[in-house]
Amino acid sequence: MRTQVAIIGAGPAGLLLGALLHRAGIAAVIVEQRSADYVLGRIRAGVLEQTTVDLLEQAGVGERVHAEGLRHDGTELAFGGGLHRIDFQALTGRHVMVYGQTEVTRDLMAARAQAGLPTWYEAEHVAIADYDGAHPLVSFTKDGVRHEIECDFIAGCDGFHGVCRASLPAGAITTYEKVYPFGWLGVLADVPPATEELVYANHPRGFALCSQRSRTRSRYYVQCASDDNAARWSDDAFWDELRRRLPDAVAERVVTGPSLEKSIAPLRSFVAEPMRFGRLFLAGDAAHIVPPTGAKGLNLAASDVGYLAQAMREHYGERSDAGIQAYSQRCLARIWKAERFSWWFTSLMHRFPDTGEFGARIQRAELDYLVGSTAASTALAENYVGLPLA
Ligand code: APR
Ligand code: PHB
Repeated sequence: MRTQVAIIGAGPAGLLLGALLHRAGIAAVIVEQRSADYVLGRIRAGVLEQTTVDLLEQAGVGERVHAEGLRHDGTELAFGGGLHRIDFQALTGRHVMVYGQTEVTRDLMAARAQAGLPTWYEAEHVAIADYDGAHPLVSFTKDGVRHEIECDFIAGCDGFHGVCRASLPAGAITTYEKVYPFGWLGVLADVPPATEELVYANHPRGFALCSQRSRTRSRYYVQCASDDNAARWSDDAFWDELRRRLPDAVAERVVTGPSLEKSIAPLRSFVAEPMRFGRLFLAGDAAHIVPPTGAKGLNLAASDVGYLAQAMREHYGERSDAGIQAYSQRCLARIWKAERFSWWFTSLMHRFPDTGEFGARIQRAELDYLVGSTAASTALAENYVGLPLA
């Protein structure tokens, strides 16, 4: 097989890149190790920056986001028993959309199938080669048959555990990592959300988050030990712990119900540099991970492929490699801003083993400063809603 861009991974990064390239008339093949149902079955976050919504529109899948997504002009910080609203719209003129990553993936998959674009699911033993030469190769086995794709470029959108970054020689890449000493126990339930907007809670018992997928489906999280086990938590135990960590005004409005999904997510900050190796580009979780506190994971994956699609349009459309040359630096500038914000917000809202009484008072002082200062809450708002793609 021959194509222009071979994309490894059919997560949001790979699928969005495929859609943007299709719109630009650039041929691409996606190779995914799992089945489409498996990819769709993964429960992930769901807060979209305006920049991500713009890219989904560019890719031709903006319709359902606008029809079913929930526009949020702000968020609530809960601490000291009270609620404090951060008004994104007033402070930045921008807002976010609450729309599940699963739905983004579903829309992109449906559009790709409808356009009849080549996607190989359940591809085994995926391997890449010659990405530092003129004709990179992707090979894989499907139903016992070995296939080879010759291409101009490889897009490694294969996530943190993917083959692309793992295929790089040790010295070619530098990684930066921070693992947090706690996890997030998350519950998805078909109950109406307790609040209009998201609530991020700093509490002596640990962090809690009230989020949502729709007016009838909610997503809640509580900070837990990183070695905890979701099976140890009954639904009742989860709801009780959640309510303990919320101000009374919110706790009394939490509607409980059976969990559809209950799991623990580890918290980690990770960046791999650079993100281009000859004709191989890394994008999304293949190159970086953020703790979910800042809701940046999906948005960073989208901006990476936004830059990559732009570079590919310039290469094929204008015979210019300026975008290709600048890809890694452009992505990393945006990634480190999001990494800093996500680390800062995580540090502010969680209780660490060594936080102690002094640390708790410092967190409180910073929260009081944050909600009392237009400059400080504007900085939070600006980072949360995200910046336009530079
Ligand atoms: N060969 C083919 N496909 C692979 C391989 C491989 N060797 N390894 C992994 N994959 C596939 C995975 O099965 C997955 O479907 O690559 C895809 C990577 O998708 P994601 O992990 O969702 O990563 P990405 O598309 O970058 O999306 C990032 O996902 O984890 C969230 O918070 C994160 O929201 C962010 C988003
Ligand atoms: C979610 O809805 O799952 C969610 C929202 C905001 C976050 C993290 C997760 O910061």
